[in-house]
Order: sequence, then structure tokens, then C-alpha cells
Amino acid sequence: MSEPKTSTQLLPNQRIFVALDTPDVGRALELAKSLKGLVGGFKLGKEFFTACGPEGARQISALGMPLFIDLKFHDIPNTVAGAVRSAMALNPFMLNVHASGGRAMMQAAVQAAREAAAANGAHRALVIGVTVLTSLSRSDLAEVGLDIEPLEQVLRLGLLAKESGLDGVVCSAKEVVALRGTVGPDFKLVVPGIRPDWASKDDQKRVVTPRDAIDLGADYLVIGRPITGADDPAAAARRIVEELSGA
Ligand code: C5P
Repeated sequence: MSEPKTSTQLLPNQRIFVALDTPDVGRALELAKSLKGLVGGFKLGKEFFTACGPEGARQISALGMPLFIDLKFHDIPNTVAGAVRSAMALNPFMLNVHASGGRAMMQAAVQAAREAAAANGAHRALVIGVTVLTSLSRSDLAEVGLDIEPLEQVLRLGLLAKESGLDGVVCSAKEVVALRGTVGPDFKLVVPGIRPDWASKDDQKRVVTPRDAIDLGADYLVIGRPITGADDPAAAARRIVEELSGA
């Protein structure tokens, strides 16, 4: 695996991770083959992984494109370290953990990724934190005992993630500017909820276009249905890359 590039070195297509949200490995492979070389990589999440397992992930990985293993680990540090070691066997470009698992858990995740990479002679995956799930409102947070504005909690966990050695966080586009001001220029911001203006919003409530997300300061975009649900996924991916490349 090549060294992860800094954001300013990335080509527009390298910023796009396509969410292969399907329980069907054949469908995921078909999509991945049609998008290979057009985008930056593929995100495999809980739906795919629970149905298709690491063997399914290996089939996608065998195409040679960067993988984002989106399993949002959240457990005691020893268990998360073990999960990260197991995920590293798939040689991912990026994986994630819940920042609310705390400093020791995040440090254990990064150390496990570093050790596994050294043992495999591979580059360490970027370890990314999930701060506050964007599905949670202020009243949802209050119900679980957090009497705080979601954005304030996002910034707190973003900073803790950075201090714990993580490489970045997943966040919504509306959090990008505030996070960038808090965590600085080199911390990766990975943004889902992306919709080109020609695509359906589906169940996403607050969406931004790919171009606006990058202009706000996002490093990587996670895009699912606007590409995977298109009649011609490769054409949809090309159109998004063109929009990102335009002046
Ligand atoms: O199809 P769509 O573009 O909405 O897919 C977005 C992907 O990003 C899905 O895999 C979804 O689980 C993930 N995601 C999200 N919103 C978040 C966090 C993750 O849509 N706040």
C-alpha cells in the first residue's frame, strides 16, 4: 500500500469513497469493478460486513483499490485493539472507531494499527473517529445524559481524537468549518451526506454537493446512492469527479 497522501496532493477522484451498502457480495463486486480507477476507494460498512464477512471484503480488496473499513469499533481498549489488528489483515487505507470510547481506547486502536502495519510491512491505516452520530439531536443526547449541544460535543471529541493520535474524524458538512478551526489543517475530515444537485436526497436530511463539501474543507467524501443507485454508476462517478475538477 502506498503512503497516504496529504490532502493538497490528492486528485479529485482520490477524495471519493463509494459506500458499497449491500449484503450481496456479487452486487458489491459488480459495482466495485465498474468504478475501479474512477474513484478513490470503497467503503465497506456493517451491512456488507455482517452479511459477507472478511472473505467478502477480501474479494473487494483484491481489486487493488483503497478500502475504508467502516465498522465503528467501540469497546474496551484491549478488544478494540484486537478488532483493529483483525481489520488490518485486510490492508485497509482507513478504518474507524467511536471517539466516545475514550482516550485509552483510541490510543490502543492507533497502536494496534501501527504494530500490525509494521508486522505486515504495510502502511498504517488512517484511524478515524466517529464523534456524534448525525442522527442524534440535542434531545437525544440529553436522554443519554449529555446535556450539551451536538456541535460542542463534536468539537470536544474531535480534539480528544486528535490528542489520542487519531488521523481524523467522520463529520457532517455543517461541522467541517468549526472542526477545521479546532483541529487544524492536517486532521482528516471525512464527510458523508453528499448529494450532487442532480441526485435524489434519499433519506439524507442535510446534504451538500461534493464541490461545496470540498470547498468547506472536507478531505474525503463518502458517497453511496448517488453513484451506486444510478442507472450508470460509472457515469455518475465521472460526473461528480468532473464537478470537483472544474474551476
Ligand atoms: O447512500 P448515501 O450517500 O446516503 O450513503 C452514505 C454512507 O455514509 C452510508 O454508508 C451511511 O451509513 C454513511 N453515513 C451517513 N451519515 C453519517 C455517517 C455515515 O450517511 N452521519
